[in-house]
Amino acid sequence: MDARAVIAKLRRHQVPTAAELHWFAQGLAGGEVSDAQAGAFAMTVCLNGLPAEARSALTLAMRDSGDVLTWDLPGPVVDKHSTGGVGDCVSLLLAPALAECGAFVPMISGRGLGHTGGTLDKLEAIPGLTTQIPQARLSQIVAEAGCAIVGASARIAPADKRLYAVRDVTATVESLDLITASILSKKLAASPEALVLDVKIGSGAFMKTPEEARALATSLVETANAAGCPTRALITDMNQPLVNALGNALEVAEVMRALTGASSPAVEDPLGDMRAQPILEITIALGGVLLHQAGLVESVAAGEAKIAAVLRDGRAADRFARMVAAQGGPLDFAEKWERFLPEAPVILEVTSPETGYVAAIDGEALGLTVVRLGGGRMVESDTVDPSVGISDLRPLGAKLTKGDVIARIHAARPAAAQEAAMALRAAVTIAPAAPAPLPLVYERIG
Ligand code: URA
Repeated sequence: MDARAVIAKLRRHQVPTAAELHWFAQGLAGGEVSDAQAGAFAMTVCLNGLPAEARSALTLAMRDSGDVLTWDLPGPVVDKHSTGGVGDCVSLLLAPALAECGAFVPMISGRGLGHTGGTLDKLEAIPGLTTQIPQARLSQIVAEAGCAIVGASARIAPADKRLYAVRDVTATVESLDLITASILSKKLAASPEALVLDVKIGSGAFMKTPEEARALATSLVETANAAGCPTRALITDMNQPLVNALGNALEVAEVMRALTGASSPAVEDPLGDMRAQPILEITIALGGVLLHQAGLVESVAAGEAKIAAVLRDGRAADRFARMVAAQGGPLDFAEKWERFLPEAPVILEVTSPETGYVAAIDGEALGLTVVRLGGGRMVESDTVDPSVGISDLRPLGAKLTKGDVIARIHAARPAAAQEAAMALRAAVTIAPAAPAPLPLVYERIG
């Protein structure tokens, strides 16, 4: 076959066959397709689009450009993908909660991208823990602990690795077809039997409008289902962080508080007070969908109740501790997490310049503030400082009196803390009236 023939077909609005796309993906992975040809391919797809069958074929071809994991486990393999946000540490609660409910969760996650935080960076704030785990060991951890959160090895969807790098420098990242194939090629390489997608919308998300979020969610759901993986999506709010902190160790601390009930009083109702905490509410909503889809419960509501129960009674916390230990972290992390997490040398309180209500939070600006503090990467080679970030951020609708603390900055140096404080003041709008409360789940797709 010839890469030029595939590109020419796309240019003429003709549809390449599954065999041609398979060949192209193998060529991306093996180096037979040049960077120029990869760029031309990305641009023609970006401009002309792909019909649904070709999008599915490209997704499968990119998945099959590397290893596809196989499992022999006494329960369904499930996974979740988030399109990215700030203060979004749902995976750290959801993976152990699902495992405790009888599912197996080999979660292949990513690092921070742009203003958004990355699950791997958060988990690596735990001393000793590694997310670079060989496949044989990953299988062992998933079988024993029920869940693992790891980075993709070079053998997972190598065609995507190559194409993504080319898209990044050819202004073709935005293509819905290419985003769909990129995300799903990696997710489907772990062979999940059910998948749930958390498509975020709002000031801290990549997608700012409901139309954009709906289009991406629909494309992902249709393509994953066509590829044989039962998939649904929730479109959820990202107009404020899901916990009141941003930054790797600070978010792990919030996860431990949520898992151990330190921030949620015990309640009688099966869902109870957890509804009041955004991180728990979203974890319960996604987990309920996934347990139902995997056939482990009769209804989404029954799944939600099951996830809420294991979050409330400490079983998800124990499961999280097992996963941490299996991945090289401390054996007693669940009991002594406060001793293990790194702390920044400078902590600066940011106070409200006026009386009023928190009316808007610019999540993207806050995320970039954490990146500039060293909590994320400006370039791929940057090392991340796990201790820095923002804590005690007041949520939307919080009432403030002049001089009240809006948040605390955790920084490596005083000058960096001062700069971040200015950025934080600009990112939080204080108004005389409280904003209307926003729902956490806007829409369900699939
Ligand atoms: N995440 C991915 O993995 N790929 C994209 O194209 C966009 C987000």
